[in-house]
Amino acid sequence: MKKIIIDCDPGIDDSLAIMLALNSPEVEVVGITIVAGNSPVEMGFENAKKVLSFLGRLDVPVYAGASKPRVREYVNALDTHGEDGLGESFLPDVEGQDIPEKSAVQFMREVLMEGDVSVVALGPLTNLAKLIDECPDAFLSIERLVSMGGNFRSHGNCSPVAEYNYWEDPDSAKHVFDFLYKNNREIEMVGLDVTRKIVLTPEILEDMKNANEVVGDFVEKITDFYFKFHWEWEHIRGCVINDPLAVAQFINPEILKGIQAFTEVETGGISMGQTVVDSMGFYKKSSNAKIFTEVNVEAFWELFLTRILNVSSEEYGKLFSKYF
Ligand code: RIB
Ligand code: CA
Repeated sequence: MKKIIIDCDPGIDDSLAIMLALNSPEVEVVGITIVAGNSPVEMGFENAKKVLSFLGRLDVPVYAGASKPRVREYVNALDTHGEDGLGESFLPDVEGQDIPEKSAVQFMREVLMEGDVSVVALGPLTNLAKLIDECPDAFLSIERLVSMGGNFRSHGNCSPVAEYNYWEDPDSAKHVFDFLYKNNREIEMVGLDVTRKIVLTPEILEDMKNANEVVGDFVEKITDFYFKFHWEWEHIRGCVINDPLAVAQFINPEILKGIQAFTEVETGGISMGQTVVDSMGFYKKSSNAKIFTEVNVEAFWELFLTRILNVSSEEYGKLFSKYF
């Protein structure tokens, strides 16, 4: 089993990603750290607990991290994730689960210094930028850093050129990418170029409920608002579930293909939050990022659905292969 910390901002798709990770035998989630993003950090903490409670996994520790970006004012995404950050499912708060004294960054420092731990980041990179400031050796001890964020050739979702996680806190994203460059390390950037191809449709959701009524109903409860948002804003019948693809990439690195390139994050002006990917080598700088451009959609769905629904590949084939 590979040990991972999930750094996230739950968030509807973050919740689906947590479900995938905790139903995958290849990974041991040693802890969940929360960052302000979709939801304010306290709400994100509560939502992580709600998902863990549904999964019967309140044994997984959760820590609260940054409540605002490194420089900018905090801008949430509750318009997309609902006023409770969980699709206005309004699940009851989990009793007796207070925010620990220990902060997300303290937890990261302790665990990462033990070695052989990776980080799957599903929100803004604020906690990771703080970790660099407070304990660069701990950051450099990260085995693999997989981040849902950014975009290469695909248009943005917060501006024509910027994706939310890196737009909400561009200074932290820049700090992380620059530090990786200086230390000759790479982030695995699972950006909108590939996540946009992962669309949960009403038909797939129906068959999820046929396959596993309890899990299917839970997914429906937290995604209903998300379906409506996607129809209203982009006339998409379904919802793009970004974050589970980052977990899937961690589990099976064959699912995504792409390029390696020097990448820098713009922190101001009209293109704030843009990931500038030097795919042509203009700057003659070594790569600090694997930028994914192709996804094996079928392989993702088989991995995701068999795990969270607890169905065999054969049952998956009967119910879902018609969609891909
Ligand atoms: O832009 C999509 C990303 O921003 C996803 O991780 C979503 O949960 C939000 O954090
Ligand atoms: Ca997220």
